[in-house]
Amino acid sequence: MTIQTLLSQKGGVGKSTIAVNLAAVTADVLNQDDDPDATSPVAAVSVDPQGSAIWWADRLDNLPFHVVQAHNDLDGLRRLRELPGIRHTYIDTPGWIDLAGDDDTSDPLGRGAAADALRAVLEVTDHVIVPMETEPLCFDPTARTIRKVLEPRGIPYTVVINNWDPRDGQRDLEETKEFVRANKWPLAKTVIRHYKLHTRASADGLVVTEYPANRVALQAREDFYRLALELRIDGGR
Ligand SMILES: Nc1ncnc2c1ncn2[C@@H]1O[C@H](COP(=O)(O)OP(=O)(O)O)[C@@H](O)[C@H]1O
Ligand SMILES: [Mg+2]
Repeated sequence: MTIQTLLSQKGGVGKSTIAVNLAAVTADVLNQDDDPDATSPVAAVSVDPQGSAIWWADRLDNLPFHVVQAHNDLDGLRRLRELPGIRHTYIDTPGWIDLAGDDDTSDPLGRGAAADALRAVLEVTDHVIVPMETEPLCFDPTARTIRKVLEPRGIPYTVVINNWDPRDGQRDLEETKEFVRANKWPLAKTVIRHYKLHTRASADGLVVTEYPANRVALQAREDFYRLALELRIDGGR
């Protein structure tokens, strides 16, 4: 059983999009589609009190992987490893509510139910995926996520650049990569490109494996297969 968690203090960087679509491509290769009794060995868990509604509200029962809403279930989170029949779990988190404030170095996750849920998640996580976009506004929250939460806990992580639009040219991408390298953070080679399709699909509740088979959709989908493959090779303990 491998548990990978999407984490960034910043909202809107693609935590939910990546969690759901990594679950989708993993389920695509692991589900036993020819056995009607088999259930998926893949789970997507959300500890975002609001976040899952966008994607999953109407589709809880017919996504190709299990969906678990667990922000209120601390005991369940602590026992995530024991989920029967599950081989891969992807956990979607909110940008954490920074109750402690920047001056309180005791625990940057702060207090309260949301912070407890995040701490429980980090306890059981094998590997964290830190999405970031190619814009300077993303640099500080990414640094805080890594330095205050991941490094003190010794949790392995990989930074993944998301939502880069090739039409904007290479410059922002190169600057972002340079920033990550200068900090010596592990960076995924796979860049998740910007496709309008993803934005629309999230509104429709579709995952990448369900996109129509046209050229753009296949490119959009390819990013997630590549990322899943790359993280299986290098990610996890
Ligand atoms: N690679 C991408 N291409 C296009 N839209 C994207 C991409 N990644 C995320 N989005 C869109 O950006 C918004 C924020 O993404 P989301 O996954 O909800 O971020 P988070 O969970 O970190 O807040 C959503 O509307 C989503 O559809
Ligand atoms: Mg989200």
